[in-house]
Amino acid sequence: MTHDIIHTRISQDIQYITIDRQDKLNALNQAVISGLMQAFQQAAQSPDVRCVVLTGAGNKAFVAGADIAEIKTLTQESAAAFLRKGNALMSFIENLGKPVVAAINGFALGGGCELALACSLRVASKTAQLGLPEVSLGLIPGYGATQRLTRLIGQGRSLEMILGGAMISADQACEWGLVNQVAEADELEAVVEKLAAKLARSAPLAVRAILKTVNAGHDLELAQGLAMEQAQFAQICSTEDMQEGTSAFLEKRRPRFKGK
Ligand code: COA
Repeated sequence: MTHDIIHTRISQDIQYITIDRQDKLNALNQAVISGLMQAFQQAAQSPDVRCVVLTGAGNKAFVAGADIAEIKTLTQESAAAFLRKGNALMSFIENLGKPVVAAINGFALGGGCELALACSLRVASKTAQLGLPEVSLGLIPGYGATQRLTRLIGQGRSLEMILGGAMISADQACEWGLVNQVAEADELEAVVEKLAAKLARSAPLAVRAILKTVNAGHDLELAQGLAMEQAQFAQICSTEDMQEGTSAFLEKRRPRFKGK
């Protein structure tokens, strides 16, 4: 699928989704959000897709935030629909059931940082800068940072970012656990491709169960979370892929998972 501002292609079980609104540093306006939703729905439905890579076009920005011109027009009433639509996308990505890697190739600010937070893993270019500058616009984050960032890196560092509004470097973000890995700018694509290929080779049902259990765990008491893990484990024991994975180990060969 090639949308005006959202490009997608599938190669070797990986769906690459690129936001291309370079004149506005790939800022998330309503059209971008609709296009992304469509692309992620395609990724969810396609049995050929085992991993998704999300990035921004050009070498300047991943996404420089929600579109400030659109935000300026919001009222208390219209903000609800605006937030519903954006947050539906964030939740859809988070609960896709397939790993999503954010390839952060430049600015990831505000809604762009929040979009990356909704992904399963984040790899940043050494030159990327991340931040939540909403407070400098008289705003607060609205696409999940007060919750997801806090869960990921803790309250102290989250408040430093959200209250301070300053950008941090990719290396700093990695040290804080906000990104998983940093790559040289000219190696980002290759590093992400290698990671995505590895994720795409994993057993899809196990991957889905891991994502589901880890995501659900945020809202559960420890005992409930552990019970859920055990239920998922037992269910996975009924899959062909579990037989294939354990047999392959014992037979000293590579497993070939089918998602069954
Ligand atoms: N929403 C709408 N437009 C945006 C945008 C956003 N979040 N971020 C950048 N743009 C636009 C700029 O208005 C400019 O458009 P123009 O050429 O029509 O004037 C274009 O993208 C290029 O941005 P510019 O500011 O000229 O680039 P820069 O290299 O000087 O600065 C940033 C880059 C990222 C520091 C700066 O664009 C910025 O601070 N953006 C807003 C970040 C933000 O607050 N995000 C959270 C939003 S809630």
